[in-house]
Amino acid sequence: MQIQGRNAMVTGASSGLGSACVQRLLERGVRVVGLDLAPPRADLPWLGSEAYTHILTNVVEADSVQSAVQKAVEGLGRIDIAVCCAGVLHGERVVGREGPANLDAFRRVLDINVCGTFNVVRCVAAAMMKNTISDSDAEGDGAERGVIIMTSSIAAYDGQIGQAAYSASKGAVAAMTLPMAREFGQHGIRVVSVAPGVFETPMMQAASEKVRQPLLAQSVFPKRFGFPSEFADFVEQIIKNPMLNGSTLRLDGALHM
Ligand SMILES: NC(=O)c1ccc[n+]([C@@H]2O[C@H](COP(=O)([O-])OP(=O)(O)OC[C@H]3O[C@@H](n4cnc5c(N)ncnc54)[C@H](O)[C@@H]3O)[C@@H](O)[C@H]2O)c1
Repeated sequence: MQIQGRNAMVTGASSGLGSACVQRLLERGVRVVGLDLAPPRADLPWLGSEAYTHILTNVVEADSVQSAVQKAVEGLGRIDIAVCCAGVLHGERVVGREGPANLDAFRRVLDINVCGTFNVVRCVAAAMMKNTISDSDAEGDGAERGVIIMTSSIAAYDGQIGQAAYSASKGAVAAMTLPMAREFGQHGIRVVSVAPGVFETPMMQAASEKVRQPLLAQSVFPKRFGFPSEFADFVEQIIKNPMLNGSTLRLDGALHM
């Protein structure tokens, strides 16, 4: 899909990977609707830009997402690209010093990372299915109506002690990628997930040095954490390349935790 002139929805837009995608898409001439529980940081350069709209949204709530998608379609006419970055990290042993893990905490991680992502995809895909096909879309790639990018994690495959909830949630995102791509293929909508390694975002910056140092030590090359702009590079490639579909792609500098 050619990027310029498109309309995108990005969840988790107020921070980290989502924010980097907003920036990249705006730089490429895309109009962006950002969804997040939190307002955007006041120092973000695109605040006030006509090309950016922020809608305070809780991705786990059906009405909240449905209404945000409706507003986006009313405002922009259509949504071509969706990037789902809203998510939370959680670490807790299944059985800790105090006994069995907190079941509510497990449910919350699944709710935000899995149900929240599913909620956004179901609403945005329904909107994309109504997109009309322009001549340029019908030409090379054949009737492309949209591309949906979800965020899994290498924890889906290499989960560490304490990551049962997070790994389960990111494994679920990876697992729903292919059935979604198969279902939406007939509508010309692709679905791809990215499984990032460790990226320098507020989520990871909040981790203690005890967590960060071993991860850095296990990095192969480059021997550092990823930059959010490198995640945005990958998202841009996924949007552009029509052969990327139905897979969860690692972006991890060969880090295997
Ligand atoms: N940073 C990493 O190293 C890394 C690695 C692998 C996967 N990921 C995944 O990438 C995604 C983005 O992570 P990040 O590092 O940018 O984190 P982040 O904490 O910097 O940003 C996450 C954003 O999601 C928003 N959010 C959380 N719950 C929400 C909800 N219910 N509704 C709407 N918005 C909500 C937060 O307000 C925040 O702005 C997450 O899904 C995360 O699990 C991150």
